[in-house]
Amino acid sequence: MTSMTYRRSGRSGLLLPALSLGLWHNFGDDHKLTNKRLLCRKAWDLGITHFDLANNYGPPAGSAEEAFGKILKLDFKSHRDQMIISTKAGYHMWDGPYGEWGSRKYMLSSLDQSLKRMGIPYVDIFYSHRFDPNTPLEETMGALDAAVRSGRALYVGISNYPAASLREAARILKEMGTPCLIHQPRYNMLQREPEIGGAFEAADTAGMGTIVFSPLGQGLLTNKYLSGIPKGSRATTGKFLKAEQIEPQLVAKIKRLNAIAEARGQTLAQMAIAWALREKWITSALIGASRPEQIEDCVGALKAPAFNHTELAQIEKELAS
Ligand SMILES: NC(=O)c1ccc[n+]([C@@H]2O[C@H](COP(=O)([O-])OP(=O)(O)OC[C@H]3O[C@@H](n4cnc5c(N)ncnc54)[C@H](OP(=O)(O)O)[C@@H]3O)[C@@H](O)[C@H]2O)c1
Repeated sequence: MTSMTYRRSGRSGLLLPALSLGLWHNFGDDHKLTNKRLLCRKAWDLGITHFDLANNYGPPAGSAEEAFGKILKLDFKSHRDQMIISTKAGYHMWDGPYGEWGSRKYMLSSLDQSLKRMGIPYVDIFYSHRFDPNTPLEETMGALDAAVRSGRALYVGISNYPAASLREAARILKEMGTPCLIHQPRYNMLQREPEIGGAFEAADTAGMGTIVFSPLGQGLLTNKYLSGIPKGSRATTGKFLKAEQIEPQLVAKIKRLNAIAEARGQTLAQMAIAWALREKWITSALIGASRPEQIEDCVGALKAPAFNHTELAQIEKELAS
């Protein structure tokens, strides 16, 4: 292991790497196992101990967990106790009324399926992937609590929860005796909802950590799209980042941010990660990657000097323009 730093998740006993690897993209059946193994091994060699999954990662849904199960057997057999593996349930997974959202029926069936796909008896963190406005929060949190009590999970988390529901979820889980470990919202220089909506503060007050996903804005906050849209990039293959979103005005903004990064002696990806991790309540930045070299570049963010006030103000000015 290398110079990775580890941060405590809220007031828990669990340390997470400042950078974690997510398997949302590039781990479905549309990609070769060889590259998936290289990505996980590169992450591991750089000290990334946390791998984040969800029931629906693929395509097809479930295939990322299957691939990760194979990788665990092939490459990490003796390392299970050194790893933090998470999965989630909340989005559509199977047909009928019990295949999504937050009922106890769906959450626990989904967890059983995830464990089977990965070939492991428990995950380290089991998440409610999204807030369900139509299921009593007590039921969804009760399912998380049951996952821990039955030995299928060590800790529980919530993802994409608005601040008010986060506070309520934290209260319910605390009363049940299974404190909520962590919140997982989207956060990057271009998408700042948890900061604006109060979810960061709410998690911190509740003693929870926060792991932010898509700190690179799915690749926008890197040098990838500075001069066009490369073939094979997520904007050409993914469903969630579309080429038409990458308008000239956005590219101009990214170029100005890139100039700030260069002046700091960093790549833009490194600056975006350092920026996402700049506040004490951020436990980890959850990145994705299609090539091992990208992970290496991202981990370089941890060597960066802290931002000074002038740099932060400069970034804010560019983001607002
Ligand atoms: N809870 C939720 O609802 C939720 C939602 C979304 C994601 N997540 C989690 O967050 C993880 C990360 O999300 P994300 O993949 O959107 O994160 P991201 O880190 O913002 O974007 C990853 C993409 O950026 C590009 N990239 C990465 N490093 C680079 C570098 N050094 N230089 C140039 N390009 C680089 C790659 O794009 P190319 O593939 O084009 O090379 C890579 O696939 C997911 O895997 C998942 O675990 C959770």
